[in-house]
Amino acid sequence: MAIDRFGRDIHYLRISLTDRCNLRCVYCMPEAMTFRPRAELMQDDELLALMPLFTELGFHKYRLTGGEPTVRANVVEVVRGIANTPGVRSLSMTTNGVLLKQLAAPLKEAGLERVNVSIDTLDPERFKRITRWGSLDEVWAGLEEAERVGLAPVKLNTVVVRGYNEDDVADIAALTLTQPWQVRFIEMMPFGEVAGFQQGQLVGFAEMQRRIEDRLGPLQVIDNGKLDGEARLYRLAGAQGELGFISSVTQPFCASCTRARLTADGKLRMCLLNEYEVDLLTPLRAGASTAELKQLITHAAWNKPWGHDLASDIIPLNRVMSEIGG
Ligand code: 5AD
Ligand code: SF4
Repeated sequence: MAIDRFGRDIHYLRISLTDRCNLRCVYCMPEAMTFRPRAELMQDDELLALMPLFTELGFHKYRLTGGEPTVRANVVEVVRGIANTPGVRSLSMTTNGVLLKQLAAPLKEAGLERVNVSIDTLDPERFKRITRWGSLDEVWAGLEEAERVGLAPVKLNTVVVRGYNEDDVADIAALTLTQPWQVRFIEMMPFGEVAGFQQGQLVGFAEMQRRIEDRLGPLQVIDNGKLDGEARLYRLAGAQGELGFISSVTQPFCASCTRARLTADGKLRMCLLNEYEVDLLTPLRAGASTAELKQLITHAAWNKPWGHDLASDIIPLNRVMSEIGG
């Protein structure tokens, strides 16, 4: 079991399959983003060689992220390899949905269980503005296909950005009245070169809640406000689905964090908002033994930083969001 200095049991690994993406969301990366040379990224066999080390150390919950995970070459076979690793008990993916129309069925067949799809607005023009390159129709078709093939329950992720989609939160929340989805509203976090924009356009939980309640009535707390992963859950009266709020900036949930992240270039990053990382790919390529690699993972877990320091204006600068995987 991987435990950190603060007694947190680290058993949830988010694996970034690629730093590349077929969109350029304003809250995630600059339009002229440069990506890492492919040789620096973990190859399929390298990732699959690391998998059993994690499961043997007690990691049992896995989420695949990016960049955009579906743009990785051979994604279906990589998912199959991960799903078939003994000890993987939960396997989901966070995706922008662009390629789900084609990939939902093969991914499900390969062993993927669920998807979270990013949808920040229901207005096609605004969708284009916020994702720079995206088409809402395409993503919506992907979402429907995911549901049809049983990548369910579907969760929707909405990052709220002032001047882009703060007017849309009530419309998106209203989807849960008729759909059994979980819609999660995410406070924008600051990273690297986009940090100034991200901090300037932040919309906090309190404002999101007010905008939803003004239109749709009071939010009812689910489970006495217990966290579901990182989300606080609510329901609108009579709704089929749920609303979640991921308030990393105004209400940090570091105390209950159980996660680690494996970046596409094979670094184990223990906190999204802290630059501390332990390189696994270089030692793997240099022929490190299984025992040595496991030791590096336990060491990284033990040294997991307590949490972020955004309140003191300390912002991670070494990577933007798409290079860590959300
Ligand atoms: N702050 C919060 N969430 C973000 N995401 C991307 N950039 C940010 C940010 N700066 C979210 C996306 C997607 C997931 C991968 O991370 O909306 O759902
Ligand atoms: Fe791509 Fe996701 Fe970043 Fe948007 S948020 S640019 S879809 S990685």
